[in-house]
Amino acid sequence: MIPEAMTCVEISQPGAPDVLKSTQRPTPRPGPGEALIAVAAAGVNRPDILQRQGAYPPPPGASDLPGLEVAGTIVAVGESADPALVGANVCALVAGGGYADYVTVDSRLCLPIPKGFTLIEAASLPETFFTVWHNVFERGQLKAGESFLVHGGAGGIGTTAIQLAKALGARVFTTASAAKLDRCKGLGADVAIDYATQDFVALIKDATQGKGVDVILDMVGGDYIARNLKALGTEGRLVSIAFQNGSTAEINFMTMMLKRQTITGSTLRPQSVDSKARMAQALREKVWPLLNKGVIRPVIHATYPLAQAAEAHRAIEASSHVGKIVLTI
Ligand SMILES: NC(=O)c1ccc[n+]([C@@H]2O[C@H](COP(=O)([O-])OP(=O)(O)OC[C@H]3O[C@@H](n4cnc5c(N)ncnc54)[C@H](OP(=O)(O)O)[C@@H]3O)[C@@H](O)[C@H]2O)c1
Repeated sequence: MIPEAMTCVEISQPGAPDVLKSTQRPTPRPGPGEALIAVAAAGVNRPDILQRQGAYPPPPGASDLPGLEVAGTIVAVGESADPALVGANVCALVAGGGYADYVTVDSRLCLPIPKGFTLIEAASLPETFFTVWHNVFERGQLKAGESFLVHGGAGGIGTTAIQLAKALGARVFTTASAAKLDRCKGLGADVAIDYATQDFVALIKDATQGKGVDVILDMVGGDYIARNLKALGTEGRLVSIAFQNGSTAEINFMTMMLKRQTITGSTLRPQSVDSKARMAQALREKVWPLLNKGVIRPVIHATYPLAQAAEAHRAIEASSHVGKIVLTI
């Protein structure tokens, strides 16, 4: 029985964590090609914080409810979706609406629960794995034997990027705050750099005999943009996915030209469902086998009941976490 109304957490107005309010909304119905998921767990990501603050509005057509990833059970499918999916436990990338009892999603964006994973662990996967896969391996073209720097190695994106890059054969550098450096090394980082007291450009130059790294995944921006280009080698690729320290910079592009470097970036949420479905297929083929074998495990920092979503947001904003925070429903 699918109820007419469901419990969810909405952003009552832009602002501090307290604007997250539990409420009732009509249960969504799956459209053509869609699955309706009874949500068991929903991952919390920093973009949810930005959305709550009014700085990251949902793309046209997406739910205004926060929540970009879930795990749960498919309880109904829309026209032209495979009816055999009903009853399957899945995790899914959603364009919003995850902080709820039920959410609809294009069925192509559902992925199986990796072997031995809890629904909480599975709910922590889609947002960071789609983002890291697309930006590091598709846009950044990181290959086995190359070197890779991810800033913010202890966060949700960072812990995913370290593990995936290492598992696929890269030498991994990361930056993090001092207390989190050992955790980053434990996840596979070859070199972990304290961003507050150490100069990542100089350390990377030293560790690579002056060559620099092949790919950088940056979520910091600001003065890191010019420093990244210095830490990047010939034919290197800089991929920006966020600008926690600002999106403007004064850059001398001479190095970029002389070293034939590429500067790129992307945001996941507004991309077409077809693009995300293509990424889902690549993840299924290239990354899910690593999860099934236990080569990569998500790092779950804490869980909170859905009604305490504000607490979960406060925890992310305090940046005391390593890995992911997940809401349980
Ligand atoms: N473009 C996209 O498609 C996309 C998708 C998902 C997420 N994002 C963005 O990616 C970023 C990470 O998301 P998340 O969910 O992983 O957030 P998160 O778990 O809060 O991680 C953020 C990380 O940034 C680190 N950091 C902050 N200032 C830094 C600095 N100056 N140098 C190095 N690291 C620094 C923090 O490190 P410490 O805690 O050690 O200080 C923290 O580990 C967010 O800005 C988010 O909006 C973008």
